[in-house]
Amino acid sequence: MNHIKSIAFTSKQPEFDFNNIDSKWCQSRHLRVFWEAVSLITPEAEKYIMRSVRAYLNEPIVKENPWLEELIEEFNAQEREHTTIHTELNKSLDIHTIALRSKLEDTMRTLTKTQSKLDNLALTAALEHLFYSVIKLTFIDTNFYRDPTLDPKVLKVFMWHWCEELEHHSVSINLLSAVDKSYKTRIHAAYKMLWDFIPACTDIIIAIERHYSPKYYRYNAAVDIAKIIGYFRKGVGVSAKYFDMKYDIIDAGEWTWPYIEEWRENIGFAGPVEIIQSDDFRMAR
Ligand SMILES: [Fe+2]
Ligand SMILES: [Fe+2]
Repeated sequence: MNHIKSIAFTSKQPEFDFNNIDSKWCQSRHLRVFWEAVSLITPEAEKYIMRSVRAYLNEPIVKENPWLEELIEEFNAQEREHTTIHTELNKSLDIHTIALRSKLEDTMRTLTKTQSKLDNLALTAALEHLFYSVIKLTFIDTNFYRDPTLDPKVLKVFMWHWCEELEHHSVSINLLSAVDKSYKTRIHAAYKMLWDFIPACTDIIIAIERHYSPKYYRYNAAVDIAKIIGYFRKGVGVSAKYFDMKYDIIDAGEWTWPYIEEWRENIGFAGPVEIIQSDDFRMAR
């Protein structure tokens, strides 16, 4: 049997209020543009992630670990809700048409069609790891989530989404490690992320800047992207963890589950968490 472990989690489905959302929900322009870009990217990125993970449902690794099938369903239930809620948020912020004009949907669909099942899983794990790094470096470590000037309705969406992202991050990383341990696969995934996914995201940032400031959008985009890259400079070490075949967020250390637990408590989503690692486990409902 090919053993794999993960964290048990379920979809949380809180209520959201999208009435009268202030379009200036965040005072800092570069952070507002960045998080709005993330919200616009979410639906197509998550649909790609769901397709990539679901492709493994009939593989031996899932059949040998029956709890994993259920966990993949929860994983997809979470991602489906993120897609729905972010689409609503994007409409409330009146930025949803930017996504319709972007090439992201086409990029993600092309990746599904042209890449192998393994390469799509590797890119999915890379995306989940990127989201994990983004959440830590730009949302938690900057104390963004504690900013009292933010619109609480918008903040609630991101708090909920990031909490669930941190929970299910280990599924894609551990699933990939269980089926493939080659550097070649991960280097190829990183290449596809840098040359296919990131440019489509950068175009969305530029389109948001143009939406708010048609005259100075190029200058604003350059300044804001430089500021965002500044946050990522501090996280090169953790981003590189993607290439560590033994990397596991459940184990002790700085970038780990205890860290996530502490943060979950801070945002009010705390609850007992179970580590699952064999086929004798039944998920509690
Ligand atoms: Fe998500
Ligand atoms: Fe995710």
